[in-house]
Amino acid sequence: MSATKKNPVRTTRRQFLSAAAGGGAAVTAQSILPVSAAEIEGLPPEVADWSRYLGEGVDAYPYGQPSKFESHVVRRNVPWLTASVESSINFTPLHELDGIITPNGLCFERHHAGVAEVDPAEHRLMINGLVEKPLIFTMADILRFPRTNKVFFLECAANSGMEWRGAQLNGCQFTHGMVHCVMYTGVPLKLVLQEAGLKTNAKWIMPEGADAAGMNRSVPLDKALDDCLLAFKMNGEALRPEQGYPLRLVVPGWEGNMWVKWLRRIEVGDQPWHTREETSKYTDLLEDGRSRRFTWAMDCKSVITNPSPQAPLLHKGHNVLSGMAWSGRGTVERVDVSLDGGRNWRHARIDGPSFDKAVHRFYFEFDWQGEPLLLQSRAIDSTGYVQPTKDELRAVRGTNSIYHNNGVQTWHVRAGGEVENVEVS
Ligand code: MTE
Ligand code: CO
Repeated sequence: MSATKKNPVRTTRRQFLSAAAGGGAAVTAQSILPVSAAEIEGLPPEVADWSRYLGEGVDAYPYGQPSKFESHVVRRNVPWLTASVESSINFTPLHELDGIITPNGLCFERHHAGVAEVDPAEHRLMINGLVEKPLIFTMADILRFPRTNKVFFLECAANSGMEWRGAQLNGCQFTHGMVHCVMYTGVPLKLVLQEAGLKTNAKWIMPEGADAAGMNRSVPLDKALDDCLLAFKMNGEALRPEQGYPLRLVVPGWEGNMWVKWLRRIEVGDQPWHTREETSKYTDLLEDGRSRRFTWAMDCKSVITNPSPQAPLLHKGHNVLSGMAWSGRGTVERVDVSLDGGRNWRHARIDGPSFDKAVHRFYFEFDWQGEPLLLQSRAIDSTGYVQPTKDELRAVRGTNSIYHNNGVQTWHVRAGGEVENVEVS
């Protein structure tokens, strides 16, 4: 993935304020005013077609699909980030979703060698290395361990990576869509490792995928014994092939790259392996040419999903702002929202369940009369950590980074309701 900047947009707070004072661009009335019901034929009190005829029977869709009117709600890629579809990314349409759970068919995908097609009857999980008895499990064996249900977000370390040097992609789907939040059913990894018996010098594990990339990472044993899961279900049904069917490692709160899909082997060792995925990739290159070694936990982050470039403001008057926040270190305690680029902050309302290391949903109701806005959200997690601005991040980490960008996002709402990705300074 390249970090090449394409037309970065940067707005100063002064430019924004003078535009607001002068009334900004001419208001395009059509884009803001609600359509009057009386102008549309066939609405109540008329009887619509769908009330006159029988609908389809129960067998029409053995596996249910969204309404055809929702066909635009899909994962999308960015052509210039898609060198080949087998080693690529697509993005979750965050601006179309609500609540905290990502539907299975909309979870972003990141593959290094395409989607492996694994037959669960033939799939095996091997545990070897510093264990008393190396073991090979079938899927049926895994299903005989006690299991648990947990909701966790997964965020790719490269999420928002293209935004590191300046505002670039127009849409939260593209700037923030490498995150999903799912309820997993799985077996605590600890139970399976204990079955194999850890040797006293065991300190690390190396999960490995069954895809052609054979993707692998070093995970410290403490984390493996703490909250990692061998997951086989997502949101109640079998993992999707894209998400690692039939078995994936869940590494709560830590960068997505460690969540090895199509999991086939776990080696136990006494030191990290320094695989390709933790040396040439997924490390942060600092200003002086050195790299940060391991950055596992995903720091607290948030984004306003509505309004956003793909979801402009359509109505004057009362509007609902919505967004999501998450932290790899705990729950989200508070989200602040600014309408003026970070000058004034107000508390947003967090609504829905608050799970550890899961997405939180927030809302902020506001009145809009066509004035330009600079929307920002800032999340604070249960450790007290405050999501930084992009300038604060760059002051510490320089401009070479791609990974681990959790800076505050700014959306510029224009007088006509259109929204674009900008940075304020
Ligand atoms: N596991 C294997 N075996 N192969 C891969 O290419 N990609 C990793 C990780 N696990 C990958 C993998 C990366 S970089 C991320 S961000 C997550 O899977 C993406 O998970 P998802 O496709 O379920 O969104
Ligand atoms: Co990734």
